[in-house]
Amino acid sequence: MTANHSRQKNRILAFVLATALVALALGLVYSFEPAIRADLDRRMSAGSIGLLNLTKLLLWSAAAYLSVRALAAFVFDLIFRVRRGYEAPTLARNIFSLVVFTLLFVLIFNRIYADVNLGALFTTSAIFGVIIGLALQDTLGNFFAGISLHADRPFQVGDVIVVGQQKHTGVVEGITWRAIKIRTFQNHIVLVSNSNAAKEAIEVCPRENLNARLIYFGTLYTDSPARIIHVVREAIHDAENVSRKITPIVRIRNLGESSIEWEIKYWLDDYAKYNDTDALVRQRIWYALRRTALSFAFPTRTIHVERRPASAAVGKDGQGIIDRLLAVEVFAPLSAEETEQLASSSASRIFAPGEMVIRAGEQGSSMFVVHNGRVQVQVTENGRPRNVAVLNEGDFFGEMALFTGEPRSANVVAIEETEVLEIGHAAMKPLFDSNPDLAESISYIIAERRAGLAAGAAETASVIKESAGLLNSIRRFFGLRS
Ligand code: CMP
Repeated sequence: MTANHSRQKNRILAFVLATALVALALGLVYSFEPAIRADLDRRMSAGSIGLLNLTKLLLWSAAAYLSVRALAAFVFDLIFRVRRGYEAPTLARNIFSLVVFTLLFVLIFNRIYADVNLGALFTTSAIFGVIIGLALQDTLGNFFAGISLHADRPFQVGDVIVVGQQKHTGVVEGITWRAIKIRTFQNHIVLVSNSNAAKEAIEVCPRENLNARLIYFGTLYTDSPARIIHVVREAIHDAENVSRKITPIVRIRNLGESSIEWEIKYWLDDYAKYNDTDALVRQRIWYALRRTALSFAFPTRTIHVERRPASAAVGKDGQGIIDRLLAVEVFAPLSAEETEQLASSSASRIFAPGEMVIRAGEQGSSMFVVHNGRVQVQVTENGRPRNVAVLNEGDFFGEMALFTGEPRSANVVAIEETEVLEIGHAAMKPLFDSNPDLAESISYIIAERRAGLAAGAAETASVIKESAGLLNSIRRFFGLRS
């Protein structure tokens, strides 16, 4: 910033000095013109007027050049920058300066050499045209490509672009007569000639656009996807330069050989800083996974030797499952052995958020206890889902079809990642034999839930009446004695 300031100060100083010098020289030439003329005439008889005119032409051209610079500074540095808020393209500035200078030069030339026809001088000289044309072939190519880039306005100073087959990436610093100037992320300057750039595909990440980035990482198959999505989203959403306007997307890209492969898509406030932000996002993920005891996957191969337990429930969470079943109200009459027996014949099933555990209308021969998570019971009315109930840890569902043999009465959908314990028909039958109360309390719950499905407030009398009818059908279905 300070270096810029002092450079600008020096430029203004040089400009003022040059203007003063030119003004002084012009003043001197005009005030001493008769004396100079007389002196030149005395020294060399011919050509004296020519020399004086040439001096005048040079001095006026210098004055014109300085005026054009001042005008360009006024138009582009003051008016353009204040109105548009960004630096004017160098090429536009140069074309402006060239056109104004040429006009001024022609005017000055005509004034000083009134008898020379400047137009004819250029148009009649065919050889001159050919020489200039050949010499300037590349330069003119770049120049016109530069003009078409400006007319198209595919990018501006400050945008990040990727250009050329070598994929030069960086922030655009300017477009000159010859080239696009890019500052790369290693702080190098790359110049891509305008004519080359015009032929290549250019990827533009405009400053005013919400540009996105993709970041990849891998986790172990043993870690739950729903948890990883939650943890990673939380970890990155408030990281510096990650836009709050769009929530980052965390999604599974591939089920790889040794890891679940993830992709994060996030949007940046300032795309030019994407390297730092990518690094920050990766760092945040590392800490978040460490805090929550989740793990990155290394390219390892784990050999699992499968030892099948007698039942899926008799695993490392065996006691947890027994505790869960003990807390289910309808199973309260069961003895400790019976609960253990029930636990060992139940199977744990895990569902992702939004997955359907039970689909209305299907046949079902098992019931479920919510072990971890939450589910919701939904019925479809006039083609739209209506939520009937939310069931939490320790609640059970699926008993209606299991105990009555009827099709499933509702959809049951996991609200979050949910683990349920599935209990089949065969596991329940011996329990009914030894616990006559069990069928009774279950039939009461079924009657209550049926009333809930009908969307009416259940009247206790009608629930009791229906539950008596249900009890009989449960007894028949399971072949129990009354
Ligand atoms: P089932 O009919 O086998 O399958 C859908 C399950 O949703 C059903 O058993 C019950 O367990 C459950 N269900 C139905 N209606 C209600 C309700 N009103 N409240 C709670 N759970 C219900």
